[in-house]
Amino acid sequence: MKRDFLRIPDFSRDEVAGILETAARLKKERKEGKPHRLLEGKSVGMLFNKSSTRTRISFEVGIYQLGAQAVVLSGDKIQMGRGETRPDTAKVFSRYLDALVIRTYAHEEVEELAKSADIPVINALTDMYHPCQILSDMLTIVEKRGKLDGVKVAYIGDGNNVAHSWLLGSALMGINLSVACPEGYEPDKQVVAEANALAEKSGASLEIVRDPSVAVKDADVLYTDTWVSMGQDEETETRRKAFAGFTIDSALAGKARPGAMVMHCLPAHRGEEITSEVMDGPASVVWDQAENRLHTQKAIMLKLLL
Ligand code: CP
Ligand code: NVA
Repeated sequence: MKRDFLRIPDFSRDEVAGILETAARLKKERKEGKPHRLLEGKSVGMLFNKSSTRTRISFEVGIYQLGAQAVVLSGDKIQMGRGETRPDTAKVFSRYLDALVIRTYAHEEVEELAKSADIPVINALTDMYHPCQILSDMLTIVEKRGKLDGVKVAYIGDGNNVAHSWLLGSALMGINLSVACPEGYEPDKQVVAEANALAEKSGASLEIVRDPSVAVKDADVLYTDTWVSMGQDEETETRRKAFAGFTIDSALAGKARPGAMVMHCLPAHRGEEITSEVMDGPASVVWDQAENRLHTQKAIMLKLLL
């Protein structure tokens, strides 16, 4: 049975731990110059309907490093953009490709493709979730802190796709998560309910608060993302006003646990959700975080394709 990775709970806690171990090994092998062409002869489709720098490059390079071929597609250049149905497209993809990586708007679109495809489908971001990001962020936390269990992450900002994947990811892995967001920009209620149910099993503590200073108390990791996600450009001005006071600056960072690290999935809007002082400062791990996308996504592909 083929498996997909559309949301973090598609993997069990043990499977996530295993993927992170594989990612760390692949990273080490790469630094040592040891090739690992484990997907030789395979072809992976990459369908991107939204902009991307990190995800697109890290998947394409990762596919190459695993000895496979990346077939880069965009929605407006394939017949699906002219009305060919998603199920028909998924069936055709399955006859040529060994897996599909997709970034798009509606999460349901990815679910529909995955349902009709005989090949694994990997979610490279939808309006609802960004699971590959959070899995690779976990690798960064393990590298820097040696563990996930009991680590406290403070997510400051929009209750968006990244926040949703953090809620599910932390709940699965026993990470304590405090989300601070302005009124009206909270995470989706159903996602919060699902995360709370998962947290009961893992022992993670989850909270949604209004005040960023409350969220960062005793935090080991401060995390943020843009206030204006792709597809929300017309809300830019309203959002900038609503998110005033939600910037990770030195004053806010100073309220976290001493030695806390600062993470951002990028792209950053310097001066909005994070100041340059913090992003370029000693607590920031954003470049390691970006690099780890490559290693973790390679591990995800091996898990689903081997
Ligand atoms: N963090 C992230 O997904 O970046 P891109 O949008 O550049 O892929
Ligand atoms: N929340 C952002 C993440 C970008 C990587 C967006 O969806 O645009």
